[in-house]
Amino acid sequence: IVDIKGGPDEGLNRLDETLVVRGWVRTFRAQSSIIFIEVNDGSCLSNLQCVMSSDAEGYDQIESGLISTGASLLVQGVLVKSQGSKQKVELKVEKLILVARVRNALAYATHKFFQENGFVWVSSPIITASDCEGAGEQFCVTTLIPSSRETTDSPVAAIPRTEDGSVDWSQDFFGKPAFLTVSGQLNGETYATALSDVYTFGPTFRAENSNTSRHLAEFWLNAKTDSSISKMIEPELAFADLDDDMACATAYLQYVVQYILENCKEDMDFFNTWIEKGIISRLSDVVEKSFVQLTYTDAIDLLLKAKKKFEFPVKWGCDLQSEHERYITEVAFGGCPVIIRDYPKEIKAFYMRENDDEKTVAAMDMLVPRVGELIGGSQREERLEHLEKRLDGLKLNKESYWWYLDLRRYGSVPHAGFGLGFERLVQFATGIDNIRDAIPFPRAPGSAEF
Ligand code: 4AD
Ligand code: MG
Repeated sequence: IVDIKGGPDEGLNRLDETLVVRGWVRTFRAQSSIIFIEVNDGSCLSNLQCVMSSDAEGYDQIESGLISTGASLLVQGVLVKSQGSKQKVELKVEKLILVARVRNALAYATHKFFQENGFVWVSSPIITASDCEGAGEQFCVTTLIPSSRETTDSPVAAIPRTEDGSVDWSQDFFGKPAFLTVSGQLNGETYATALSDVYTFGPTFRAENSNTSRHLAEFWLNAKTDSSISKMIEPELAFADLDDDMACATAYLQYVVQYILENCKEDMDFFNTWIEKGIISRLSDVVEKSFVQLTYTDAIDLLLKAKKKFEFPVKWGCDLQSEHERYITEVAFGGCPVIIRDYPKEIKAFYMRENDDEKTVAAMDMLVPRVGELIGGSQREERLEHLEKRLDGLKLNKESYWWYLDLRRYGSVPHAGFGLGFERLVQFATGIDNIRDAIPFPRAPGSAEF
């Protein structure tokens, strides 16, 4: 753009040239079927006005609603005299390509799905004292003493300590141990019992020391053996049971998959050719076919009857490993997503609602090929006595859950929700093998550069 608009005549010397501009949308406005897009390419402060009519190639991208401030574009057109008073020249667009990425489209479709279905987007705290999953897989947050920050080369030396060398939490910013959140669910439940259906979409952190292709330390919520930071999408549905939860998870997955099949054709062709042959047709099946549902007990029977020899032996009560999950979805059900429900309570978190058999809880996991567990959810225990009994049984400190118990103490409603790790979704939707390729700056054990 500096080449076009940099000179004294602001581009008039290049009239009628066909140009290609690569840049980002500054402003976007539509006047009936004519679209005005101000594009900036970072070369100068000036924007180039691009004018697009409905006969230009790529107009369907406008209709998809994907193009807004910040979107990356490639625009080709002829430079013409501008009729507006603010600029001398403008680009008459012949062709526009949205340089979108599937990850972006999945995030957009996630908001679109929940917003169109009346869910409210809520934020949950990143730093918290509670461990939602009770698995002790949290990253601890300590505060460096400001005075020693300048005097020491080692940040660790600046952590407040008592005489015996342990961390002095009373000196710490929060006055007690605080952690990066593993899940926004417990906060989501408080929102849902005031606002009805809500969802969170934010980073979650798991200090699981596992190096696998599906676990990240920071996941925008999505993995089991991954130690990771990842993004998690966590809807919470008020006045809902496990069946409603499973229906919502199914509709959500079908919606976002259909969205990228329709709106990211070029990227999907690339993945289909270079990353995983046949992924487009397998994803089309996900949209069209209904998902298999079976109970944990039936899943164990199926695994016990399998011819395959598993590394981890199977028996009722065991946690399903990735090899079991993949066998169920890939082999037993030919690549169809499978929802397993009613897990033994011993292997699930304290907040899940106990079933009448008193052995299982109203939990569900959605398994998909290559990834295994994509979604984990449950109906929540809304009965105060049951919840207190469960916390006692697990020797969890009831005092620290006072606010969560109060939600039941002062009246609750049946509610349910699920969590989906965003990177696992990207992995599933693109055919990418390793979850670390599904996020630009992955975090995993021994890796926290840049
Ligand atoms: O099954 P999880 O641990 O469930 C929860 O955290 C619940 N509080 C969710 C809820 O009901 N609101 O995690 C949910 C999903 C998993 O199914 C998986 O997709 C993803 O989060 N996930 C990870 N993704 C990448 N790396 C990790 N380390 C992950 N751990 C979980
Ligand atoms: Mg899980």
